[in-house]
Parts: sequence; C-alpha cells; structure tokens
Amino acid sequence: MQRRSARLRKGEAAGSGVAPDESVAIEEEAPMFDVPPPSPDLLKGDLYDRLRRDLTALFMGERDPIANAANMAALLFHGLPDLNWAGFYVLRGDDLVLGPFQGKPACVRIAVGRGVCGAAVARGETLVVRDVHAFPGHIACDGTSQSELVAPLWREGRIAGVLDLDSSRLNRFDEADRRGCEALAALFMAASDPF
Ligand code: SME
Repeated sequence: MQRRSARLRKGEAAGSGVAPDESVAIEEEAPMFDVPPPSPDLLKGDLYDRLRRDLTALFMGERDPIANAANMAALLFHGLPDLNWAGFYVLRGDDLVLGPFQGKPACVRIAVGRGVCGAAVARGETLVVRDVHAFPGHIACDGTSQSELVAPLWREGRIAGVLDLDSSRLNRFDEADRRGCEALAALFMAASDPF
C-alpha cells in the first residue's frame, strides 16, 4: 500500500465559500491508498499477512476507533474477494449498534443473542456460517448474502463489538478466514481507543 499526503489547497478549507468542486481539490492526483484487488493465486494466509501490514500502516498515528473502523471496513471490503458487506457492530448495553461499514445499508440494532452477530457475542466466539439460510434466526440485511463470518472484538476479557463479513457466495469462509479475521480484529482493538 502506498500512503500519500493529501491536503486542501490554501483558501479551500471547508466552509471557505469556494465552489464545491474546488473545495475538495487535493494536491496530488494519485490516490491516497492503493488497494490492489487480491490475486486469485495468493494463499489466504499470505493475503491476511498483507492485510495486517496494510492495516498497521493505516492505523499509524491514529487511535480514533471510528476512523480506524471505517478504514478497516473499506480495506477489507476491497481487499478480500467475494464480500458484499464488511463492517462493525458496537456493543451498547444489550444491543449491537451499527458502526462503520461498506456495503448496502444494514439493520441498525441487533440484540445480544439474535442473528449471527448476537449469537457470536452470546457465545463469546467467532462464528463461521457456511449457509446463512440454515442458521436459526439469521438476520438478512442484504438478500444476496449466503455465508457470513462474525468475529468478536475483545478488550480486557470483554466483548466491545463484532467484525462482520458477508458474502454472496455459499461457504465463502473457512478456518483460514477465522484465524485471519481474529488477528485483524485484535490488531484493530490494540491500535484503537474504546468506542
Ligand atoms: N446477518 C447479520 C446481520 C447483520 S448484516 O449481515 C450486515 C446477523 O444475522 O446478525
């Protein structure tokens, strides 16, 4: 991943009264972050190693959980193949509340114990669901979803939320994805302040 600086040109700060198309002008034309699509030949372990390095770079110098979760959702959505949704739910009392994500709009609140996300919290473990239609109580936010992985976010022995990945492909996630996502979730929690 290439990290580039981007800043507004002098006099183009938000609210400065310049035309909308000028107010977002960025000095360099190249993208701030280059997330090449994963090569089909790349082994899953190598792909997760690359994502871990990219996330480490993205989190550098920033501990805001919303900013880091937003960038992580975008990185995973574009960096992992065959996803139709990637994002976070944050635990607020007995509910999981929608956090930063990429994909179609999703249900905002999920009670602990409900759906795949709530079940992962209730059981305190990552759930890899090969066929969401066979999972009792699955909540369908995007009708095309066929399989799902939900990894709890742990902080000091307690769950603070979940990382949720959905795929339109049946049986998309396996043990390598479970290991990889748990490692990325741990990296996120170590690099970010509490929600
Ligand atoms: N399928 C989830 C709901 C969240 S969406 O997938 C974004 C569940 O059953 O908990």
